[in-house]
Amino acid sequence: MLILNKTAGVFFKPSRRKIYAFLGSFHFHPGKLFLHKLVLGIETSCDDTAAAVVDEAGNVLGEAVHSQTEVHLKTGGIIPPVAQQLHRENIQRIVQEALSASEVSPSELSAVATTIKPGLALSLGVGLSFSLQLVDQFKKPFIPIHHMEAHALTIRLTNKVEFPFLVLLISGGHCLLALVRGVSDFLLLGKSLDIAPGDMLDKVARRLSLIKHPECSTMSGGKAIEHLAKQGNRLHFDFQPPMQRAKNCDFSFSGLQHVIDKMIMQKEKEEGIEQGQVLSSAADIAAAVQHTVACHIAKRTHRALLFCKQRGFLHQSNAVLVVSGGVASNLYIRKALEIVTNATQCTLLCPPPRLCTDNGVMIA
Ligand code: KG4
Ligand code: ZN
Repeated sequence: MLILNKTAGVFFKPSRRKIYAFLGSFHFHPGKLFLHKLVLGIETSCDDTAAAVVDEAGNVLGEAVHSQTEVHLKTGGIIPPVAQQLHRENIQRIVQEALSASEVSPSELSAVATTIKPGLALSLGVGLSFSLQLVDQFKKPFIPIHHMEAHALTIRLTNKVEFPFLVLLISGGHCLLALVRGVSDFLLLGKSLDIAPGDMLDKVARRLSLIKHPECSTMSGGKAIEHLAKQGNRLHFDFQPPMQRAKNCDFSFSGLQHVIDKMIMQKEKEEGIEQGQVLSSAADIAAAVQHTVACHIAKRTHRALLFCKQRGFLHQSNAVLVVSGGVASNLYIRKALEIVTNATQCTLLCPPPRLCTDNGVMIA
């Protein structure tokens, strides 16, 4: 186990001077009155350029996002310098759109919050240098944000969730299980030892050439697998969930991906088709892959829930599991997790899909 980040909260009675400074931070305009502090959140850690303005009470005043998915689908994956260039081309417009939608000017902001880690260095750099310029120009405080902590806490915008709770983050770049004990108090229980589940699903979808499938051409790999799986029979293939004997809460997806690759190669030989054409058994493979990934994720999460309950880390009667990230939008995987939470008397919560994926709101 590893402590992700722990900052002790210090509580004290504010002085009169601090109270006046606090009241002075509210903005009064003729015809426009903000009773709350306003934070601009900026996210560029991967392939989404996103910004949002959120007030102190968690109200989203405005947001904007530019997704690079279409470009990366064509190149068969994210090429960091391409992602960097697209962030550079869009960041000014996206921030402006978020501010305009909020009817807020930069001078009315209380602070600018920006993802500083983890993520692609070239992508993070664009958001960071844009933000530093902005805070310098308008003399605003800067709040550095840990991307995973933002994902983990997003649920508190839509649901009343008390600490502690267990969070499962599953996306193209993330795979972790953590106990959330406070706003910046996380206990990492498990993580992927290699690639994230979304990355694996994207690779399998590319290997199956699903971009050439008429129903899947504009879908991300994970979404294409979920879509095709509905038409397939998972029992036609038998893939084993990884790490069945590992007595921890870690994940692994690359071994499974290699087994699937080999199976696809064998099927191509059997069907007498070249790599790059869609197999007639693609839907069956998609169904079996999705089932195996769901089993693996559910089993590791089950271990984490039992561990937390045994140690008294989670409430015995109303423990909460929060699942977020792009892969959390998969309904089959959610169903598998629901089986686990029902069996352990826990509540399963997922933010709405637009807040599961990378966005500016969670940063703000
Ligand atoms: O959170 P996200 O938008 O970006 C990051 O990776 O941070 O997640 C994108 C990932 C991609 O790998 C995509 O294939 C996967 O989420 N994904 C899905 C589904 N929709 C998106 N995976 C499984 N089922 C889905 N319906
Ligand atoms: Zn993310």
